[in-house]
Amino acid sequence: MNASARLAREYSAKAEAYERHWAPVIGPMALPLFAELPLRSARRVLDVGAGTGWHLGALTAAAPQARVLAVDRAEGMLRIARRRASDCAAMDAQALALRSSSIDVATLVFMLFHLPDPAAGLREVRRVLHSGGMAGVVTWGTSDRVDLPIWTEALDAHGASPDPRDPSVMQQGRMDTSTKLEELLGSTGYALSRVWSRTVEHRWTLDELLAVQLTCGMAARRLATLSPVAREACQSSVRARLANVDLLDRSEVLYAVAVRPAD
Ligand SMILES: C[S@@+](CC[C@H](N)C(=O)[O-])C[C@H]1O[C@@H](n2cnc3c(N)ncnc32)[C@H](O)[C@@H]1O
Repeated sequence: MNASARLAREYSAKAEAYERHWAPVIGPMALPLFAELPLRSARRVLDVGAGTGWHLGALTAAAPQARVLAVDRAEGMLRIARRRASDCAAMDAQALALRSSSIDVATLVFMLFHLPDPAAGLREVRRVLHSGGMAGVVTWGTSDRVDLPIWTEALDAHGASPDPRDPSVMQQGRMDTSTKLEELLGSTGYALSRVWSRTVEHRWTLDELLAVQLTCGMAARRLATLSPVAREACQSSVRARLANVDLLDRSEVLYAVAVRPAD
């Protein structure tokens, strides 16, 4: 099983937790993209890596004439997306089972960094866009996650193994600045329309923040490598430390819209 297949299995297993704890946090961050895409006149819209489909309602509303197809590699995520939209299909972004030049607008929301070869993924999306079709990307810039240093310190101190997730599906570093994202899109045959960023703040409650990490975050993966006793001690120490902290996350979110030029 390759790294993308393992990642899909992980997302499927954690889909309910993702939907409950993480999708409502990052879902609204995608919405500014939609206003910058020619969705009103679009007939065929593709949401690549749609996950549980949190933003499918907004995407469909913004594209009233379109058939919106949501694809994802993780069947468990799509099971939840289907509660919101019927047009969902299991597909790998790196090999889309779609005709060339058949899509007006494609969106990639918080997913491009999961592709082992993001440039190849962008070229595959370019293939299915028709000339003049547009891709929209949302991804992370630099983030100041309040709890991560505390988790890392505690997990290291308790002897947890490193994050077992394959680094090939964590490619944030290749696209976490406007310049990098611009270069990535430019090098894959797109004419760039615009890249912009926003700083997004989210203030957590302690229970919400722990729930995200303990169900679908890095901490859950590393905690699983500890004995039950060490796991409990590690969690308790993190909870105690976070109880005295202002739980404000400040993240930079990057947006890009890019056109497939005529051949
Ligand atoms: C962080 S989630 C984002 C989901 C959704 N776009 C959102 O904003 O809530 C990343 C999604 O990308 C999907 N994904 C990862 N690698 C993929 C691939 N190679 N092909 C298709 N989907 C993939 C995952 O299954 C997951 O649903």
